[in-house]
Amino acid sequence: MKLTREDQEILNGKHGKAAKKSMEILITLGEIFDAEDMVDVVGVQIAGVSYDNLGEAGLEFLSEMADDGKVKVLTTLNPAGMDRENWQVLGIDKEFAYNQNRAIEAFAKMGIITTCSCTPYLIGNSPHYGQHLAWAESSAVCYANSVIGARTNREGGPSALASALTGKTPRYGYHLDENRHGEVLVNVNVSVTGTDEFGVLGKIIGDRLGDLGKKIPYIAGMSSATIEELKSFSASVATYGGAALFHMENITPECDKYPKPHEIVFDIGQVDLDKARSELIDDDGEIDFVSIGCPHASIHEIATIAKLLEGKRIKKEFWITTARPTKKIADEAGFSKIIEDAGAKFAADTCCVVAPIKGRFKGMMVDSAKACYYGRAKNKFKIKIGSIEECIEEALK
Ligand code: F3S
Repeated sequence: MKLTREDQEILNGKHGKAAKKSMEILITLGEIFDAEDMVDVVGVQIAGVSYDNLGEAGLEFLSEMADDGKVKVLTTLNPAGMDRENWQVLGIDKEFAYNQNRAIEAFAKMGIITTCSCTPYLIGNSPHYGQHLAWAESSAVCYANSVIGARTNREGGPSALASALTGKTPRYGYHLDENRHGEVLVNVNVSVTGTDEFGVLGKIIGDRLGDLGKKIPYIAGMSSATIEELKSFSASVATYGGAALFHMENITPECDKYPKPHEIVFDIGQVDLDKARSELIDDDGEIDFVSIGCPHASIHEIATIAKLLEGKRIKKEFWITTARPTKKIADEAGFSKIIEDAGAKFAADTCCVVAPIKGRFKGMMVDSAKACYYGRAKNKFKIKIGSIEECIEEALK
């Protein structure tokens, strides 16, 4: 790889041990993927934050890097295994909380902003079109590449941290124009609305991409999409199809930049939506847990939940998972009080997938196709997808 003088100095240890180790990690990665050089990144988002994922080995690596490592660019974290303020109310055990806090402290020591969220783009880690990033959370990577038109590969925990400590990433993959064009044309011949339905659409397209061995869909036929719908779609198409980028005609910023694909085409109609939705509902599932906020809920979604819960009382465990800064806005706006008076709980900094809740519930209802996937695969819950309104109806039953 061609290294600049600065890259070389970092490699020689002039910027400290952690930066040197980071540059070694990035060069190894760059050589594997034939990157010509490094590119400067404007922001980093680190995943694998839950102590459940890190374990003692991960914590040891972090502590070593935190010895003299300091971030060079704005860096935030993916959800942790617990709400950092409200973990006892959510039933998290003391030992887990102690270990999770040790991990967060190591991140903080390096100058990382310890907001733990999979929607960094909603809370200030907000790149603009064409900027290079090193983000790790799959849904955020897909959103950044597609909806914002920024450029990031899907980083692992160590490579994202290495980028944070050097401000660089190897230039390959989605950082290059040649790897960003649509490969499969998807004609959507049905109206799609709501976060749940966009998640279902993401599942259909993701499943097909997996079968085709392709990664970048060009989606035609959508009339509009909200930020919340696009975040749900990004999470779902990344989960089911490993997609890190999609183009949506008339909606995403690079939709006209590359030729529209025409060699592989498939259509989606109402029958496909109904079939995919039925695959995300377990018939025999008794629901005892409802969760909204995968990816983390926006203030707009929280406002909707507050409106639907006002003056009511829920009967099931109900979490709203969000970023702490969004929760603070909800507090100030009075939404949190309405929601908590109704008996629902905020789970800031965490989510229904990364929190250690396996075995605590039988069935989970969500508005997110991604949460359905992990609810089944990781937590062994029965699952049911529905709109935000349907989720709230279920919690009230
Ligand atoms: Fe975010 Fe957790 Fe869903 S990290 S995308 S809320 S699985």
